[in-house]
Amino acid sequence: MSTNGLEGVMQSGNHACAKIRARWTEFSQWVNLDSNNLSDGQKLAVKYFTVAVILFFAQIVFGMLAATQFIYPSFLYEILDFNVNRMVHINAMVIWMLYGFIGCVYWLLEDESKTEIVGLKLGNIAFWVLTGAVTLVVLVYLLVQIGPGKTSSLWLINEGREYIEAPRWADIGIVVVMLIFFYNVVATFSKGQWSGIAGVLTLDLVALAGLYVAGMFYMTNITHDQYWWWWVIHLWVEATWEVLVGVIMAWSLMKLLGVKRKIVQTWLYIEVALMFGSGILGLGHHYFWIGTPEYWLTIGGFFSALEPIPLVAMVVHAVYDSGSHAFKNGNHPALAWIIAHAFGNFFGAGVWGFMHTLPQINLYTHGTQWSASHGHLAFFGAYATINIAFFYLAIQHWRGNVWMSGQSENAWRWKWALGLLNVGVVGMTIALLIAGYEQSFIERAVEGSTWAGYFSAQNHPSFQSAMIWRWFFGLVTFAGLILLIWDLLTIGKTETRKAQEIISE
Ligand code: HEM
Ligand code: HEM
Ligand SMILES: [Fe+2]
Repeated sequence: MSTNGLEGVMQSGNHACAKIRARWTEFSQWVNLDSNNLSDGQKLAVKYFTVAVILFFAQIVFGMLAATQFIYPSFLYEILDFNVNRMVHINAMVIWMLYGFIGCVYWLLEDESKTEIVGLKLGNIAFWVLTGAVTLVVLVYLLVQIGPGKTSSLWLINEGREYIEAPRWADIGIVVVMLIFFYNVVATFSKGQWSGIAGVLTLDLVALAGLYVAGMFYMTNITHDQYWWWWVIHLWVEATWEVLVGVIMAWSLMKLLGVKRKIVQTWLYIEVALMFGSGILGLGHHYFWIGTPEYWLTIGGFFSALEPIPLVAMVVHAVYDSGSHAFKNGNHPALAWIIAHAFGNFFGAGVWGFMHTLPQINLYTHGTQWSASHGHLAFFGAYATINIAFFYLAIQHWRGNVWMSGQSENAWRWKWALGLLNVGVVGMTIALLIAGYEQSFIERAVEGSTWAGYFSAQNHPSFQSAMIWRWFFGLVTFAGLILLIWDLLTIGKTETRKAQEIISE
């Protein structure tokens, strides 16, 4: 290329950069958020929240593609196959929720420890490294969809374990980033002050980061492989994540409703004890049919049946606390999402989980759309909701702690986003439950789990219409998410009244 040609390319590159910068400035002016309202830890937190929302969006897009393929199996065939869409859908979910949780912890860290965050620079570097790695992993998922199952594939392309398919290089990176995060949390509390909430949080993060390692080793025996994989999947969502949201809820209830620390802390201890007491051996409900010894039928059935108890306790706790404070708070959308969390967690995990957790029932429901029904309501109800509540807490602070209520300007947006998202997910849940019922009857009970039975169940009108309804409610969910993002970018922009003044009135 001649020098002139190169200059031309550089000039157009500069031109494009300038254009992007101009657009960014326009966007920032439109959003009009003032970062001077945030502490350093909170600035780091909102970076995590931003990526979380982007990945949430990606999750739903790929969910819609996968749902379309249930109805038109040839849609995007060999361009973007179902297995790829499904993988990106659920990996994006796990990662956005982790981003959200890390953001929540960075957000409350300085407030709870009463000091400045210790390793801010390191935290920022970790954020960019993690985000770069996530982008690269997703690009590789999309660009290298098929290939040989070699050791190099395991290291560079895909590890093949549902929900945590990231290749091993990324696994190691994730562990390093988690260690930096952990250091930041512990060092900051040690420099400032410890509290009951801080102690529970720290112990929980040890378990959360440690368990991830159980999903990193290749095993030739599929039973062994699944045995360890569930240590991450089940023990994360039914033990460490539940405790983590317990911590986040405890802190939010103090900030949002002014509940006394002694009350939330006592509840937190009780819930942690119940959660670990039932959830650790509850792991056995995934060991029924994978080739593990038969005693898991008894252990898994018994302990997992106890798992709803802490979830019931949490609902009682939430209702009790909000009742005794007569809903006096200056952030209605956040509170609405916290209520959605309390009930979503109880129904999605507690009720929908309990329905198929006894081996006598699971024999018929295992691996049907029943599981997907539970999976959607539980992940959304327990973890999407609490993250969204926190996004609203964060945006309120970012705007300078303005009042956010059902009477504010454009309040219809957050109300409709709340309604559409919840109706969408509940609608999908019911559609999937109907499909799951039908599969359990036709494929399992009537046709005795045969290959032919599998196809009769898939071709049954109840199954096929359920897939159409799931698609429809998926679209409702999608609409809710778009509205939510719009609302998060604009809520409180024109509000001048402060939340604190309203409450003390
Ligand atoms: C927030 C907490 C929970 C979340 C996010 C969650 C999510 C999930 C997901 C996504 C699956 C499907 C896994 C797969 O791909 O195979 C699953 C399976 C299962 N869950 Fe949960 N779950 C939660 C709590 C519970 C609780 C409390 C119970 C029992 C009381 C339960 C019982 C089960 C059972 C029995 C299965 C296996 C289904 C099968 O055999 O196919 N879950 N869960
Ligand atoms: C537009 C909305 C959505 C659509 C259309 C959608 C669609 C799908 C589809 C087609 C699958 C594959 C199911 C299969 O293999 O049979 C799936 C799996 C899954 N989705 Fe979604 N999804 C949506 C939203 C969500 C949300 C909001 C969450 C949770 C926050 C979620 C969590 C999951 C989980 C955990 C699985 C794995 C379930 C299992 O293995 O049993 N999805 N989704
Ligand atoms: Fe489980």
